[in-house]
Amino acid sequence: MNQPVDRPNAQRFVDKVILVTGAGSGIGRAAALAFAREGGRVVAADRNGQSAEAAVAAIRDGGGEASAVTVDVSRFEDCRAMVQHTLETYGALHIAFNNAGIPSPIGGQFEDVDIADWQRLIDTNLNGVFYAMKAEVPAMRACGGTAIVNTASVASHIAQPGMPAYVASKHAVAGLTRAAALDLIPHGIRVNAICPGLTRTGMLAEALATPEAEAQLGAQAPIGRVGEAEEAAAVALFLASDEASYMVGSLLVVDGGVMLL
Ligand SMILES: NC(=O)c1ccc[n+]([C@@H]2O[C@H](COP(=O)([O-])OP(=O)(O)OC[C@H]3O[C@@H](n4cnc5c(N)ncnc54)[C@H](O)[C@@H]3O)[C@@H](O)[C@H]2O)c1
Repeated sequence: MNQPVDRPNAQRFVDKVILVTGAGSGIGRAAALAFAREGGRVVAADRNGQSAEAAVAAIRDGGGEASAVTVDVSRFEDCRAMVQHTLETYGALHIAFNNAGIPSPIGGQFEDVDIADWQRLIDTNLNGVFYAMKAEVPAMRACGGTAIVNTASVASHIAQPGMPAYVASKHAVAGLTRAAALDLIPHGIRVNAICPGLTRTGMLAEALATPEAEAQLGAQAPIGRVGEAEEAAAVALFLASDEASYMVGSLLVVDGGVMLL
């Protein structure tokens, strides 16, 4: 009970072309594999091209269809090339999961925030989502639309000490998701976001390095454990699927109850 489940028989994404950023690790990798298991043709995009290739290899090993592309989402030209790669490979773009992101440097209070760190984080976590969407939307409109899912965070709703740039970037992703949802729904594109809490991914690798540290972090959530990447990905798949056909501009929290406290 209350553990991640697999849905081996669900086939919600047959005939869909799906672009996932940050697909080389964590939530993005879990989503890329799950989209492919459910029949989607997946473009796995990541700044780390080798990790994107590894995700594609895992998808193909499972009998799925996928293609890798190297992208730095903080560069608009890269985002345009990523969409071009998608169109050249699969001839369409129906669903985009804009998920790539980076964490705050650990331990910095407001007055310690380095300007270069601020810029780097905003460039990836906020501008990267906007640039990806800007590149994706014309291609999606040409296919009649369907869905964009962005990765926001519990830090889109609440502040946390020592991470002003991250909190600002994720509040902004929430605002961008809602504003874009209004503008794009007339074109048949639903825009929503997932807001993960503490999730076992590359981003938390150091914080989860020992069983004691993991137990301590897990205890911060009412559910009593950290989340798995597959659990956040499952909510992204739901928002991307026709099951969420009436959801527009929603920010779905996947946090084991952290925000209730
Ligand atoms: N893990 C958590 O606890 C947590 C909580 C809330 C939100 N999130 C968000 O989830 C998203 C996914 O992170 P994750 O936890 O899976 O971490 P992760 O580090 O495992 O994966 C992030 C992936 O994004 C890629 N990436 C980073 N910058 C990029 C760029 N400029 N262009 C292209 N790819 C880039 C990385 O190479 C990596 O493969 C992020 O947006 C993160 O902010 C994570």
